[in-house]
Amino acid sequence: MSDSKVLFEVTEEHLNTGLRGFPVGTVRTSKVDPIKGVSYVGFPVAELAEMDPEAVVYLLLNKVLPTPQQLADFKADLAARATVDPRVTDFMAGLPKDGHPMEWLLAGLNLLGMTGKTGDWKEDALNCIARSSTIVANVFRLRSGWGPAIPGKPELGLVENMVHQMGVPGADADRLRELLRIFYVLHMDHGGGNLSTFAGKAVASGHADIYASLGAAMAGLYGPLHGRANQECLNFVRTVGTTDAGEIEQFVRDTLAGGGKIFGFGHAVLRAEDPRATVQYALGQKLCPDDELFQTALTMRSVAVKVLQENPKISNPYPNVDAVSGTLLNASGLTDSDYYTVLFGFSRIAGIAAQIVDERTVLRSGKGVPIYRCKYIAENQEPRSLG
Ligand code: MLT
Repeated sequence: MSDSKVLFEVTEEHLNTGLRGFPVGTVRTSKVDPIKGVSYVGFPVAELAEMDPEAVVYLLLNKVLPTPQQLADFKADLAARATVDPRVTDFMAGLPKDGHPMEWLLAGLNLLGMTGKTGDWKEDALNCIARSSTIVANVFRLRSGWGPAIPGKPELGLVENMVHQMGVPGADADRLRELLRIFYVLHMDHGGGNLSTFAGKAVASGHADIYASLGAAMAGLYGPLHGRANQECLNFVRTVGTTDAGEIEQFVRDTLAGGGKIFGFGHAVLRAEDPRATVQYALGQKLCPDDELFQTALTMRSVAVKVLQENPKISNPYPNVDAVSGTLLNASGLTDSDYYTVLFGFSRIAGIAAQIVDERTVLRSGKGVPIYRCKYIAENQEPRSLG
């Protein structure tokens, strides 16, 4: 019998529960504490939120914050990697506009892989992060029909180059940049087991390249129970139709009584307000305090929690990362919520890429984690014969 510590006892009641709570590996980029929320290499996400996004990418990849010189060198390196094969944008321009923006993102990632992978995990991770600015900008600009693709200016920075290439008509570019820089940091990583990260690492364990693995991850993020919840959240806030606390409370009660869902509240791991939401509520009070949808979301922060807490079966009645994000994006000129998960994906590509590099080249003394192959208990598989 091995002398290694028993971490978790699996019983039959744990089967078919989505691996909830199963320790299956280690993660070196972030930790999710049920009460404190996520920290990146030990730094609470709220403390990192206003840092240069590239500094936090560096942190997740190298597990230390960069010195000013290291940051300058890293930014220059990412800028030098940012050139995207022109065929990628040409093919993206021809994608069907009835495809969801996340389907466009999946296509863009695989086009990057088809035109530029090296097979080296770290190289491809850095290249994909650097080139994701153009892919995400293309999704917004080309699918929205805002105009032809705008040549990149990677020297501006990951987020700034993306905003530049989006060329959002009528938007306050300065406010959009301020919001999306913080948005990028907040959404980068959330432990090792969230669905998109797990899916990306699982596919990478079979040694598919990082572009295909990140495509699998983004396919996971596309689900309305995961990343696409930020799109559903704004659509939900739009249906409330009032900023009055009493009317909002009645709306919440009526929604629950009708079997509906209060989007933006609750989480599989968290048991307190998500610090990523806390940062966004404060940001909204700075950027768009008078926006009615933001005021509705801000009122729901207390009213919905009060109502949800009345149900003892609800383990987490508190706001999560999606609760207010859409109202901030909407107030900053990105009014089509179909695109919101693409911005989540833009950010999460960095965290998942860092975790894939760890699993492929660092863990198990550099040998990497073996191909994922968990066990399923056979049901209804008694031996039979056609004879
Ligand atoms: C995330 O950031 O990935 C979401 O909060 C979902 C999760 O952590 O499972």
